[in-house]
Amino acid sequence: MSKNADPLAELFAAAKAAQAKAHAPYSKYRVGAALRAPDGTIYAGGNVENASYPEGWCAETSAIAAMAAAGGRRIAEICVIGDGEALCTPCGGCRQRIREFADDATIVHIAGPDGVRATFRLAALLPESFGPGHFPRQAK
Ligand code: THU
Repeated sequence: MSKNADPLAELFAAAKAAQAKAHAPYSKYRVGAALRAPDGTIYAGGNVENASYPEGWCAETSAIAAMAAAGGRRIAEICVIGDGEALCTPCGGCRQRIREFADDATIVHIAGPDGVRATFRLAALLPESFGPGHFPRQAK
């Protein structure tokens, strides 16, 4: 099977590879995130913790930063992977960060080591959200 034959498998593989590179020496909870832009490009990243605990950041934030640094401004689909029994759903702050580049219908996959466990629309994770469309149009 070619690499692109199963787009979700490819997104999952990218998230898993990013999880392996996460820097999580304090929580020991490695997370990976991979997002697909509308042009098919995948951006990924892991959580990056810090000895000054509050300064660490989440995997979703790393993936979004990679996308933005490359000029991307749209998330078509995102996959987040974490270990353990519980679903590694994005934290509240990351739901809002995803929202900046996505909308109610955007698909969020939550994976464990063996594959995708659950799939949500962003609206289910962040209902009645505030987003870029809330700002009144500026007069030019
Ligand atoms: N974490 C993420 O990277 N993404 C999530 O969706 C949930 C939590 C990270 C933050 C911290 O480094 C570790 O997981 C434990 O909270």
